Amino acid sequence: MEGLLGSFTSKLVEKAKRADSRIVLAFDPTGELRSLERAKNLLSQLSDRVAGIKLGLPSLLAYGPEGLRGLMEGLEGPFICDLKMADIGYVNRMVAEEVFELGFEAVIAHAFVGIREGLEEVVGLARERGKGVLAVCAMSHRGAEEYLNARCLEMMEASRSAGVDGFILPATFPELLREARRRYPEALILSPGVGAQGPPLGSALKAGADFEIVGRALVSSPSPRLKVEEMRREMGGWTGGSWPRR
Ligand code: XMP
Repeated sequence: MEGLLGSFTSKLVEKAKRADSRIVLAFDPTGELRSLERAKNLLSQLSDRVAGIKLGLPSLLAYGPEGLRGLMEGLEGPFICDLKMADIGYVNRMVAEEVFELGFEAVIAHAFVGIREGLEEVVGLARERGKGVLAVCAMSHRGAEEYLNARCLEMMEASRSAGVDGFILPATFPELLREARRRYPEALILSPGVGAQGPPLGSALKAGADFEIVGRALVSSPSPRLKVEEMRREMGGWTGGSWPRR
């Protein structure tokens, strides 16, 4: 943010250009994909066609930390770890240490825990290690309207001041994406919620996101390689113009 290109953002943008893609794959295994071999096979088919890959708690529980290390080995990332961290800073930092050591380039952390003794310790660690932090400032499900999303704008401002690399904002509430882009023209924004959750592919990009995080629409497809090609065509590839944004 602040017009500076952090190391994680550079890696993501470089990969996006190479893959000609604004898709970040969200890989959450079910059924046969709980086999590490099948998971690796799927990711091998998709990794050169996406800007990055997000792995979360379902993968960690299915394969264990060493399984995750093996899953990432030899594949093109960058890999983002989505544990939606929401603990005190001391524990957040401890978890992030382990995650970075496994080979992840960025972590996703909740902004609602607050900055002081919360988010700031993860951001500090990420800076030391040349890694990234993405802050969840709103969520895509209906319940997010009950509490979380009402404070989205404050959380964006606070996490931006804390030095996060970007925001996670939902495709299901495009008005939040539009407002985020209006307030922070230079910010990196990743948006989950297109496809399985309703909004059409490409809609979050139109509302101001830089990347769409896509899970089930790709992972559950019988032909993931064909599907990702179709999605890239539909979304128009990278077409990113200059970066950082002006
Ligand atoms: P689907 O299958 O719905 O998967 O395409 C979406 C992926 O993104 C995550 N997800 C979110 N993460 N804020 C987040 O930080 C959100 O509002 C949100 N909604 C979905 C989900 O964990 C899955 O991996």
